[in-house]
Amino acid sequence: MALFDTHQLHVDMKRDDLLHPIISGNKWRKLKYLFHDAEQKRCKTVVSMGGNWSNHLHALAFTAKELGFKSTGYIRAHPKQELTPALKDCQDWGMQLLFTSRGDYAQLRENTNWNRFHDQCKESYWISEGGFSELAVQGVMEIAQEVDKRYDYVFCGVGSGATLAGLTKVFPDSQVIGVAAFKGAEYLKKILNQYLKSHTNWHLETGYHCGGFAKVNSQLLVLAQEFETYHGFAIDKQYNAKVLMALQDYVSKGLIEKGSSVLWLNTGGLQGERTQ
Ligand SMILES: Cc1ncc(COP(=O)(O)O)c(C=O)c1O
Repeated sequence: MALFDTHQLHVDMKRDDLLHPIISGNKWRKLKYLFHDAEQKRCKTVVSMGGNWSNHLHALAFTAKELGFKSTGYIRAHPKQELTPALKDCQDWGMQLLFTSRGDYAQLRENTNWNRFHDQCKESYWISEGGFSELAVQGVMEIAQEVDKRYDYVFCGVGSGATLAGLTKVFPDSQVIGVAAFKGAEYLKKILNQYLKSHTNWHLETGYHCGGFAKVNSQLLVLAQEFETYHGFAIDKQYNAKVLMALQDYVSKGLIEKGSSVLWLNTGGLQGERTQ
């Protein structure tokens, strides 16, 4: 892109969106060891939670079907609403959809001690919203095996923070910038600080959510369209276009030194934009 050339930046995109047609982006990275663990614990059902367009539930339902697990998804939505294409797929792949009120969903989200559920319900394997866990981070860290260059900066989108955490741990010589896709992500800083302890090479950028999760603005739409026209493939607007917006802004504001090298992890997510 012209802006990057003017600032003599070297920007590479790692296309994890191409990992698999359905379990794409960071999804397989995050789910791989969780499914291993579920298998070892002899659980028959995997349980998780998400919204109407959840990439996480979509990948989880498909993986569960492929690996012979049952799956259950708690959905933050009204039971009488029409199913989104993402939820239709989940249902077609055998996921039991349990619709929950905002209040109940918030309570489920607070229950970060998932081991309690494992103990109570031995057959079910609980995976938190977005999959944040040590095992998910371990999967994300495997990205480094496919990257043979050193980068000054690594950029990625942020939901639960697992991807940012994994990249921070595995690229200690890079500054890792996670761009929050939703409003009010500041609370994640405390969680990540506690989790990442001595690792300080990360920053959670909360200023590019464009109004919140599943929200876009005209600037974001233009940016995503320009990207697609120039490069010949689309990026999702929920996570990756927001990363691009942040990256461009950082460059324009001189927050990234001339001549730097940048790795942008494309985490997929286009399924969430389907209208049918
Ligand atoms: C397409 C996409 N990119 C990025 C993320 C953010 O990943 P994480 O939850 O690890 O922060 C998500 C959410 O899981 C996602 O669906």
